[in-house]
Amino acid sequence: MSETLRLVATASRGTEPLCAGELRALGLDHVRERVGAVEFSGTLAEALRACVELRTAMRVLLPLGRVAAPGPEGLYESLRALPWHDRLDLRRTFAIEVTGQSEGLTHSLFVAQKAKDAIVDALRARWGARPDVSPKDPDVRIVIHLHAGQADVSLDVAGQSLHRRGWRARPHPASLKETLAAALLLGAGYTGEGPLVDPMCGAGTIAIEAALIAARRAPNAERQFGAERWPSFGEAERRILVGLRAEARARERKDPPLIRASDRDEEAVASARENARRARVKLELSVADARELAPLSPPGFVLSNPPYGARSGAGGGQKQLKTYFHALGERYRALGGHTLAFLAGAPAFESAFGLRPVARRKLWNGPIECELLVYRP
Ligand SMILES: C[S@@+](CC[C@H](N)C(=O)[O-])C[C@H]1O[C@@H](n2cnc3c(N)ncnc32)[C@H](O)[C@@H]1O
Repeated sequence: MSETLRLVATASRGTEPLCAGELRALGLDHVRERVGAVEFSGTLAEALRACVELRTAMRVLLPLGRVAAPGPEGLYESLRALPWHDRLDLRRTFAIEVTGQSEGLTHSLFVAQKAKDAIVDALRARWGARPDVSPKDPDVRIVIHLHAGQADVSLDVAGQSLHRRGWRARPHPASLKETLAAALLLGAGYTGEGPLVDPMCGAGTIAIEAALIAARRAPNAERQFGAERWPSFGEAERRILVGLRAEARARERKDPPLIRASDRDEEAVASARENARRARVKLELSVADARELAPLSPPGFVLSNPPYGARSGAGGGQKQLKTYFHALGERYRALGGHTLAFLAGAPAFESAFGLRPVARRKLWNGPIECELLVYRP
């Protein structure tokens, strides 16, 4: 438990510096940004703490090693040689997730099958029996990241993507991932000290993440993690995790600043209300047009993800979006003392909004390249 490990937090592209900032704020060492990931050093206890506390990370991985992957057979041999008997036993199930690609290894399902064969064959040779695979709910999730003839093999400490905080009642096609919403808030400089409003809130993702920050609530304190089901997870590890959860709960603020959210769509507001209830956060919700937004008192943050096309449009095509963004700009230039931040997916946003951003950050909302634009009118 006290051994220092090289660990990896994965984060969506563009959010790596924010994830690195969170890791540094947790006091972790040797934090290094990579593409889509941040490496850091720490004990297993610190990896668990990262799972409990990180807002922007998708996964926390414990690397087992980097092996050669010169095509399917080469990968099979490399994986077969790893000491899987230290990580699995016959009572536990496992699953393999493949990311990235390499020459001859472009189909993730095929690679996962080959990797499974290697692990099963290695264990059968040792024990005369093999553990089962459970793709949906494995005890041990193995992540294989392929790149340039190599495979990084890791165990998923969190066990599943940390963006699934557990409060979302039903998926919504235009909703942001919780981890990306948290990245927008941190990227815009929101520390949870003042009021905040999302005037185009959809299912409420930004407002709920803001409320978690304002309440100083660790986003994943109540979740079960993959590592809890590993053969090596014993009483000492369990006690540490109980302590981390208790420490996180003790830090919670009882009377956080006001978080408001509104949308012109009644159904979106109903869904945000249901999500906020499930997330146990207080939001002031209303059905309203974003063009009617009143200043916050005291001034605070306006942070939103405006419509960017057909899926969540302001009533139609790019021309109508431009007119809408222009109207927002006209209204919001009067919000002196506020910080405004928008995740602009539509190319028309910046010019139509018309104000000069004081900061910008390139981010990816899934495959869509976006920009977080920050204004101080
Ligand atoms: C991209 S979605 C926001 C998704 C949200 N961030 C989430 O995670 O669920 C854009 C939202 O803007 C809302 N919207 C469009 N025009 C609006 C207007 N004039 N006033 C208020 N909301 C508007 C849409 O109803 C939609 O919910």
